[in-house]
Amino acid sequence: MPTAAAARIQDVPTIESLSADQIATIKAIPPHVDDEVRAISDSRPLSFFLGEDQFALEQERVFRRLPVPMALSALLPNPGDVLAVDSYGPDVLLTRAKDGVVRAFLNACTHKGASLVETGEPGRAPRLVCPYHAWTFSLEGQLIGVPRQEGFAGLCREERNLAELPCREIGGVIWVGLTRDSEPDFSDIEGQLMIDFEALRIPEMHAYGRRRFELKANWKLVLEPFLEPYHVKRLHANSVAPLFADVAGLSHRLGRNIRQISGKVQFSPDKVGGGENIHKSITHAYTAFPNLVVVTSPYYISMMILAPQAIDRTIVDYVMLTRGAPDNPKAEELFAKSYAMILDVFGNEDFKAAEKCHRGLVQGAMPDVIYCGLEEMIPLYYSILDAETGAA
Ligand SMILES: [Fe+2]
Repeated sequence: MPTAAAARIQDVPTIESLSADQIATIKAIPPHVDDEVRAISDSRPLSFFLGEDQFALEQERVFRRLPVPMALSALLPNPGDVLAVDSYGPDVLLTRAKDGVVRAFLNACTHKGASLVETGEPGRAPRLVCPYHAWTFSLEGQLIGVPRQEGFAGLCREERNLAELPCREIGGVIWVGLTRDSEPDFSDIEGQLMIDFEALRIPEMHAYGRRRFELKANWKLVLEPFLEPYHVKRLHANSVAPLFADVAGLSHRLGRNIRQISGKVQFSPDKVGGGENIHKSITHAYTAFPNLVVVTSPYYISMMILAPQAIDRTIVDYVMLTRGAPDNPKAEELFAKSYAMILDVFGNEDFKAAEKCHRGLVQGAMPDVIYCGLEEMIPLYYSILDAETGAA
């Protein structure tokens, strides 16, 4: 009889556990046909990746106007959990208070602005105490303690609560508006994207491992490999290429977001039911606009937030989610091997390629970047981006 621990590895995503929309899409994947590639003609000028104006437009009209993914729910699963994130410009502090609600604040004491929590790994704190003068805040952001308060004439504590940012937890992701006092539109995330993420169980998954990558490349070059299968058989020839077919997947717009579903090399439409692990036959890859990438594997899900720092610098916050913490040697071995493998593939293959491309574009090696039919999701994504930046 299997133990509960052993059963956990077998707690796998099946087609039956997915959303109706995901199931319908999987059933529409055609059998693989070799050499069938749609020809397209699409390109982007180098200034799209290297231009100051483009970067400024993206910051103003996308990253400062729409909700951005700040962290995963799995990093703050319990009341009392706190996490500081510095990858977007404003330093943001996330808390999950006793009421279970995640809130976002500027990570700055309202006395003199000192950071309350060090950036890095999630921590636990019943309250937030500034290391400088020990001003103390509740996890709801209220100023609850000021040492020697009698020394501040007329101090009104209510006026010195933490500066709060708009924040919602949707589909296992904590989304934050980076502009204070301006409620961004969360509705695009709350539709089918949230339904899909919930069906994949992202909100209840476990953060097995987390790695920060600081890359010398434009954020769009870091994103591109997650929108196309063209490179998989080439760049990943010595790693994951044998798992994948050299064909275009199916993709759908979910508002501004893109869902890609592709059949793996052994995919066959009649082999996707009966309690089989669906992610052995197909891969789900999402681009949650603007900068969250989600890629499924049979026993884990890769979640990546790509935060632009400058035209030529991007921070990637990678988290591997599993359906539970490993609690037996078999699960530990599987997850550890998977984690090492995926960090190697993304870190040493995809991210390195983005850095190499950025260097080549700076040298002006060609007039523009061109895309083929196996990359058609990239122009689609850029048309969505253009609509937001006003370039469309
Ligand atoms: Fe790749």
